[in-house]
Amino acid sequence: MTVHELSAEQAAVFATIEGTRENVFVTGRAGTGKSTLLNHLSWNTSKQLVISAPTGVAALNVGGQTIHSLFRLPIGVIADHDIEQNGDLRKLLNTIDTLVIDEVSMVNADLLDAVDRSLRQARQRKEEAFGGVQVVLFGDPYQLAPVPGDADERAYFEDQYRSMWFFDAKVWDETDLRIFELNTIHRQHEEEFKAMLNAVRHGTVTAEIAARLNEVGARPAPGADAITLATRNDTVNRINAAELARLPGRALTAKADITGDFGGRAFPADETLELKVGARVMFLRNDPDQRWVNGTVGTVRKITSTVYVEVDGETHEVEPAVWEKYKYSYSAATKQLTRDIVAEFTQFPLRLAWAVTIHKSQGKTYDRAIVDLGQRSFAPGQTYVALSRITELDGLYLTRPLRPSDIIVDENVRRFMANAAPIPGIEA
Ligand SMILES: Nc1ncnc2c1ncn2[C@@H]1O[C@H](COP(=O)(O)OP(=O)(O)OP(=O)(O)O)[C@@H](O)[C@H]1O
Ligand SMILES: [Mg+2]
Repeated sequence: MTVHELSAEQAAVFATIEGTRENVFVTGRAGTGKSTLLNHLSWNTSKQLVISAPTGVAALNVGGQTIHSLFRLPIGVIADHDIEQNGDLRKLLNTIDTLVIDEVSMVNADLLDAVDRSLRQARQRKEEAFGGVQVVLFGDPYQLAPVPGDADERAYFEDQYRSMWFFDAKVWDETDLRIFELNTIHRQHEEEFKAMLNAVRHGTVTAEIAARLNEVGARPAPGADAITLATRNDTVNRINAAELARLPGRALTAKADITGDFGGRAFPADETLELKVGARVMFLRNDPDQRWVNGTVGTVRKITSTVYVEVDGETHEVEPAVWEKYKYSYSAATKQLTRDIVAEFTQFPLRLAWAVTIHKSQGKTYDRAIVDLGQRSFAPGQTYVALSRITELDGLYLTRPLRPSDIIVDENVRRFMANAAPIPGIEA
């Protein structure tokens, strides 16, 4: 990441995080330098600080670890289930002063409450929120929301929480959260584009703004190096398959080994993974030996019974990985959850990466990108995330015109951000 002088507003937030033990939420529009400030914090803090994020890609962007792997939490709703901690984890959690979470908009209330409980347990400070750890959250709730779970999980949230959002976690009944909003956008410089993005963010796109965005975006796609950002996995898969077909040579296929029931949810990797030498791929898991992490991009160099992938000039042998699926059942009557392993999935932890979902593009910056909203954009903030990745209006390519229904703003976000009333720049 490029190093910048902090702006005055970024410096003021840094000073508060350093100089107090208060829990802080750093928010602001896309490109206001939240992640940059976080990076500065990680290099310049005098505190014992750990950095985490809800997804592998988001963690990769800030040199952190996923919340699930940091706290060794199971996937799915955790509720009041026992949290297992070994000695190493307890030691780690006892040494930290500050826990940073980037892209917190994707963290759900149950997960944040589990983090709270895990810290209290490890530090044996049951009465103190987060076990006395300072929590510093970064993110923009107008960007991607937490991913809704299956029917049982949704029922659990409806029963237990005002909403799935991190700001509705129970821990906030016991401690305060100080909110700072960064205001200067650094990713884009054109006033016109910034105003357009702001309108998309708040759901105030006029017919005039829409017409201008569509006029600019409606043109043939540029050359091969522009990445496609798509709403749907199947669109991403189609593009990747087409790029793969363009490469010379024969595709080799790896079939996943699946035991048990993965239910209605997508598999953690392709059931049938097709690769060729030369294919652009992304890793889907962290490497125990830390040669790559979830989100690392590389190129396939050789395929035998294993796959050799070049990352930053070095070629690594990649072996299949095993994913375990847990299933929670929740009864609203007894308010109890039980958890069992219901399935296992074994596959190379790789997928093709000429196109990515908008979901996985969060936090990134691209000079140009092809935005494919498919039939419709279906998640709050999705269109805003996609468009706000691009540095200039001239880098925007649309596969079809934007429609009013593409712009969805979550009512819980409006409620929270209105009540939070962050004071621009300096302090809430
Ligand atoms: N103080 C600064 N001076 C100049 N450029 C900056 C500054 N802070 C951030 N930038 C640049 O602006 C761009 C966006 O920054 P960053 O990714 O930190 O924003 P963000 O708020 O995390 O965005 P998002 O919400 O999309 O994740 C980056 O290219 C970054 O290098
Ligand atoms: Mg960011």
